[in-house]
Amino acid sequence: MLKIGVIGAGHLGKIHLNNWAAIEGVKLIGFCDTDDENAKIVAEKYALPRFATTNELLDACDAVDIVAPTTFHFELCEAAIKKGKHVFVEKPLANTMDEARALVKLAKEANIKFQVGHVERFNPAFLALKNMALQPMFIEVHRLAQFNPRGTDVSVILDLMIHDIDIILHLVKSNVNYISANGVAVMSDTPDIANVRIEFDNGCVANLTSSRISMKKMRKMRLFQKDAYIGIDFLEKKTEVIKLNTPEDKDVFTFDIETNNGKKTIAVANPHVQEVNAIKMELEEFKNAILTNTETAVPVVDGFRAMEVAHQILEKISKKTIH
Ligand SMILES: NC(=O)c1ccc[n+]([C@@H]2O[C@H](COP(=O)([O-])OP(=O)(O)OC[C@H]3O[C@@H](n4cnc5c(N)ncnc54)[C@H](O)[C@@H]3O)[C@@H](O)[C@H]2O)c1
Repeated sequence: MLKIGVIGAGHLGKIHLNNWAAIEGVKLIGFCDTDDENAKIVAEKYALPRFATTNELLDACDAVDIVAPTTFHFELCEAAIKKGKHVFVEKPLANTMDEARALVKLAKEANIKFQVGHVERFNPAFLALKNMALQPMFIEVHRLAQFNPRGTDVSVILDLMIHDIDIILHLVKSNVNYISANGVAVMSDTPDIANVRIEFDNGCVANLTSSRISMKKMRKMRLFQKDAYIGIDFLEKKTEVIKLNTPEDKDVFTFDIETNNGKKTIAVANPHVQEVNAIKMELEEFKNAILTNTETAVPVVDGFRAMEVAHQILEKISKKTIH
């Protein structure tokens, strides 16, 4: 049995505790949380020991799941790695680039597994596209959320946009060439809404809008590539593909249009989206990587690359801000 400890049992930490409890082959040995009142509730609800210090919890487990606020990720990850424990840490990997760089080095030197919680990789709407060759050349993204003081310890870039940055870097196999960005701190001390354009060496352009001050929620990514449009709704868990019809396309709705190159048949398909609990799946993948000694689904380097782009965006925004 793989012994798991959870650090930070707040909003997401409780969801992680529920999921760990439903995963076979692991034993939850306890948790740490600095808030006494919350810790009491968690200890009772989950009938789980609260450890007084992180060090004691780390000594008792094989792997740790860090779900504390981002500003604590570095010190908690560092402590775990130095004790040779496997680490799952929520996104974003860390708060600063120096911290992120140090974690990549520490994780590489230690013989441990390290996974970053970029959970949208496991979103069923995204998983539904796993058999399709995705080579987008233009990407349009909207990730809009209502205001919630939770998460405002970091900017909307590190809080929300980082999900889309990770997915885009995962899809576009090319280096970032140029970034332009604008953002405004409306409700908190850091940008709450931002618009970003990322240009890649291969010509792909991604246009991202993230907001945590919207009235309505939305999490949509639209990919345009040679002969196809792909819509991914991360919130509603729906996927749509509109492309030139090929003989392999079956059971799809088709219609004809006249173009300068003659008549083309267009196919509209909604790939089957399986019901998947994305958080359970990412934690299971972490467990499997440890047990089979294989690379994790979202290695530390992926978390680092997403942060690198996020920080370039923040630099661009800060240069435009009048202090
Ligand atoms: N993957 C996602 O979609 C997603 C969604 C929400 C949050 N997150 C990430 O999860 C992390 C936690 O977010 P949350 O919304 O659960 O926050 P939260 O404020 O609800 O919970 C954080 C908990 O950590 C505890 N804590 C604070 N410092 C601690 C420390 N040093 N050691 C142990 N416990 C400590 C707090 O008492 C609190 O209970 C953040 O990094 C956030 O970015 C990810």
